[in-house]
Amino acid sequence: MPSPPKPQPCQDHDLGKFEILIRDGASRIGRLHTKHGPLNTPMILPVINPNIRTIEPREMWDEFGIQGIITNSYIMWKHDKLKQSVLSKGVHEILDFPGVIVTDSGTFQSYIYGDVEVGVSEIVKFQKDIGVDVGTMLDIFGRPDMSRKQLEYAVEETANRAIESLDVAGNNMLLNGPIQGGLHEDLRALSGSLMSSIEGEHRNFTIHPIGGIVPLMENQRYKELFQILLASKSELPHNRPIHFFGCGHPLLFPLSIALGVDIFDSAAYVLFARDDRLMTPNGTVKLKDIFEWPITSRALFGTSPEQVRNMDKNDRTILLSRHNLEITQSELSRCREAIRDGKIWQLAEQRSHSSPQLRTAFLWVLDQLADPDEGPVGESILDMISSTNPVRKGGESISHDLELRPHILHLQALLATRWKAPGSWWDGSTSDPKRLLIIKKTAPPWRITSLDSIINSLIELPNTIPLIMTPLGIIPFSFEDLSPWCHLDGSNEMWNIDYDDDEIIEFLLDLGLKDIPYITISPESTSELNLPKNQEIRNWLDRCAVVDKLALLCSINPNDGCKFTNHMSSRKSTTDRMVNVYSDGIHILSPRLSDGGISLTIEGAKILSSMYPQIPTFDSEVEYSDFQGIPKICIIDDAVPFVGIGRNVMQGYITGADDHIIPGMPCLVVNSKGDLIAHGLAVTTASEMQYLKKGVAVKVRDGALKNKE
Ligand code: GUN
Repeated sequence: MPSPPKPQPCQDHDLGKFEILIRDGASRIGRLHTKHGPLNTPMILPVINPNIRTIEPREMWDEFGIQGIITNSYIMWKHDKLKQSVLSKGVHEILDFPGVIVTDSGTFQSYIYGDVEVGVSEIVKFQKDIGVDVGTMLDIFGRPDMSRKQLEYAVEETANRAIESLDVAGNNMLLNGPIQGGLHEDLRALSGSLMSSIEGEHRNFTIHPIGGIVPLMENQRYKELFQILLASKSELPHNRPIHFFGCGHPLLFPLSIALGVDIFDSAAYVLFARDDRLMTPNGTVKLKDIFEWPITSRALFGTSPEQVRNMDKNDRTILLSRHNLEITQSELSRCREAIRDGKIWQLAEQRSHSSPQLRTAFLWVLDQLADPDEGPVGESILDMISSTNPVRKGGESISHDLELRPHILHLQALLATRWKAPGSWWDGSTSDPKRLLIIKKTAPPWRITSLDSIINSLIELPNTIPLIMTPLGIIPFSFEDLSPWCHLDGSNEMWNIDYDDDEIIEFLLDLGLKDIPYITISPESTSELNLPKNQEIRNWLDRCAVVDKLALLCSINPNDGCKFTNHMSSRKSTTDRMVNVYSDGIHILSPRLSDGGISLTIEGAKILSSMYPQIPTFDSEVEYSDFQGIPKICIIDDAVPFVGIGRNVMQGYITGADDHIIPGMPCLVVNSKGDLIAHGLAVTTASEMQYLKKGVAVKVRDGALKNKE
């Protein structure tokens, strides 16, 4: 196999920039730019002991796809011979590694052995002098068993050392700014806030490792581990990768990544190997206990446990280290792929069943999702829910934990706040709703299975709201093709739902319909679909679907949605779904057939832009309302000619963004005067747009200046 090419250094102006390529809730596929190539995250930095290299760094680069390693600058500094050679040759040559080299500072040694004798500036300068890409300041390790006073000291003293460290690091070496604070949520948040706001003379911290967590992992205290992560994250800006210091067991990757970790580092691959233990994505297996391999790898292929047990100790450690590193890498690939597929939460859910401690931690996270508290953990949880694209294509697999998946919670919250009962009916009347018709025991596509029954009911009583029972609760018929409500993967039995009265009332309460009489039916087909009256009813149902989706997904007030869809007509597919939607003869939008979402057209975007003339800024105090209007992004004038002809909006060219932007959903792009420049789909959240300086912010679907050239 040819070895990977030498890494390309980033452009000078990109050094230290973190780009988000794909995101799903708190998880992200990102890229950190360095002088020795990119770090594509989520990723692991294997720990290299400069004196004992069980797997050569060069082999990691050539064979394992490792883009960065971490080693300890304090060990190099302390051993005179090594110190002199690394100072003269540089760390990349000494370790023979072409990619990114990260170093730690000796803090971990102070945790293991007590004080270290190196100075704060001295160790940063040494890291800089040996050509490290990302160094680490000498932070104070806050152990979980320390007193609050000691932990306060660890947080304050680490922050006090930050400026000096950043200034010594200079412009060319990036620096880690660790977060301490033990188990105290408020101290973690304080540490996050202090470390992220410190401004160095040349640059700020590039990465924030979460420190002091090794003792928790050693004792499988995973609940506290994730509590600390969420508390620390509440104050960290979205443009800085988060590193879980010392975490490297594949078992922990999916949930850590789902909660926002970008970088891992660990010596576990070699420490476990020395101890004759094999890693699997579900836990660790002892070589002495097995007759056959529970998981295969390139390293183990063609061998048996018996043969490996009989190997020379050193050869065996190398073989098992290679296996462990391979498993580590493959689990990270699986996680990245799961982010791309919108399934990282499901992977975390599956893996949580691999260990009782991890399951306890996962259930604790679910409790936080169900009922976020008021502290920093709750803040991170709410941020995660609201930044998750609620609509996704592909089937949603059913499980006990389904209802608490962040994107499902987001969708249900949008339904509860943004869906309103219709104000007018197919016969032109405008009175209050008189009846609810709830379809039960019926599988999607509901427009096929239930339309006749709905139409009959609407003929009988026009002021009827049609609703559907789904495994995720009761939803308006308007959302009958919106995924995941209509696209759940499980046995057919799951559609045979018949909620009892108490459950129905509970769901109706959320929809604001509890005082309206309801009937439930399991539909049967009739053959009266083509009556002229039916066409009127069908037009009304289609319009409700468009108005309701605009409200749910784009925050458009249903009254405005009605104006926007004046004299609505549509072209339908052979499966009876709307393909193009017209208002007064103008093509304004097309429903997305893949997931039931909405794609605006440029004409539709122009009308909406004039209906909502606000120009967004960052940090503006917007009064809360259920309907803030179609979300907008304001770009700098220099970017207007490019975006106006259909190029994507890039991070760093944005002067303001509405807070209620949802990644994956439609948004408008305007200039500083508020004129429409383009429309597209948001890739990131407003707060990411505020901080990120590289990458795509909005995938533009069409520019408004195309024909004006
Ligand atoms: N390695 C593992 N934990 C830590 C920590 O808290 N600080 C530093 N600098 N290195 C670590």
